[in-house]
Amino acid sequence: MAETTTDKANEALFSPYKMGKFSLSHRVVLAPMTRCRAPNGIPHQAHVEYYTQRSTSGGFLITEGTLISPTAGGFPRCPGIYNKEQVEAWKKVVDAVHAKGAIIFCQLWHVGRASHQVLQPGGAAPISSTSKPISKRWRILLPDGTHGLYPNPRPLKTFEILEVVEDYRLAALNAIEAGFDGIEIHGAHGYLIDQFLKDGINDRTDEYGGPLSNRCKFITQVVQAVVAAIGADRVGVRISPAIDHLDATDSDPLSLGLAVVQRLNKIQVDSGSRLTYLHVTQPRYTAYGQTESGRHGSEDEEAKLVRTCRRAYQGTFICSGGYTRELGIEAVAQGDADLVSYGRLFISNPDLVLRFKLKAPLNRYVRATFYTPDPVVGYTDYPFLSKSHGLVSRL
Ligand SMILES: Cc1cc2nc3c(=O)[nH]c(=O)nc-3n(C[C@H](O)[C@H](O)[C@H](O)COP(=O)(O)O)c2cc1C
Repeated sequence: MAETTTDKANEALFSPYKMGKFSLSHRVVLAPMTRCRAPNGIPHQAHVEYYTQRSTSGGFLITEGTLISPTAGGFPRCPGIYNKEQVEAWKKVVDAVHAKGAIIFCQLWHVGRASHQVLQPGGAAPISSTSKPISKRWRILLPDGTHGLYPNPRPLKTFEILEVVEDYRLAALNAIEAGFDGIEIHGAHGYLIDQFLKDGINDRTDEYGGPLSNRCKFITQVVQAVVAAIGADRVGVRISPAIDHLDATDSDPLSLGLAVVQRLNKIQVDSGSRLTYLHVTQPRYTAYGQTESGRHGSEDEEAKLVRTCRRAYQGTFICSGGYTRELGIEAVAQGDADLVSYGRLFISNPDLVLRFKLKAPLNRYVRATFYTPDPVVGYTDYPFLSKSHGLVSRL
């Protein structure tokens, strides 16, 4: 059969890729996405179904943000990875994904001040780098389905910061115990690590605040601790220097991005092994929450920031944020990324990989069911391409 334009364009997204020790068959990654379907913090059968639906042989999946400790949560019904019951429950998800030949990392998450007393043990204030609350521009989704204001956080005392680093380390070990191929450290989108990185939030006067080198200390310690526990080749890191989600602004996102990249490069040299990847979100998309995400600069400036981080980072680079099939092809073909993660399109298209490959039409996502509790509706009931079209996936 003659080669078509689609075949040629597909080469970029559908060429195999060696991500460290993992052999991927294509470049379309499931982005981490909180879906609020884990009552009591335990993943269940619906998770098995949701993740297997999105698994392909040689595909790469990143789980939803998964809580590293009881204080880490800021959304209702988020799964954790800090106790035995959670580890056992995740094993079922991981086994099912592996049975389909896919690779799965667990995203380790602490939301910091993006929480509320009703989500904290003993009704305590959420922890952060700062005592400043998230502004009234943002609302938190509460367990009863209403939205509230973010409360005043409690700034961590200096000695407590290493206790949180230890929580990341233990959570990473638990993830490996559950069978995950690795973990992603969520350092993006205005959550705890970003609350240390960004000078629009971090107002500390100890060695974790002030100059960029101090603001990078927490993420560096977390990555070092996790790398020492499970090996660099099972660790990915996600950052979003230019995203102002939850007031996470910085006066110089480019320098911030580069500072983190330099530290990751150094950790790779020191540990004698590459990290699995760096995952950078760019703000070229309307927000996934209730409020529109701001833009830091023009589309050109944003693209420049991501490209500069990509060039400076010595290893696999994943980009995310508003990518379509065509933009993903362009990013990989131009060398702007090795892999592209897809969020919302993957929510509504469990067989997104096949649809991209065939250039088939896509289901539209329903924002209203992103964070609802139903284990089926808006979660596992988005239709696959009809088998009556003869489009049975061999991926
Ligand atoms: C419902 C929803 C939940 C999300 N939860 C997370 C999360 O837990 N961790 C994270 O790093 N990003 C999260 N994101 C951001 C996505 O990973 C992704 O970067 C974002 O949706 C932009 O990509 P897209 O334009 O392909 O959707 C979430 C996005 C959505 C839509």
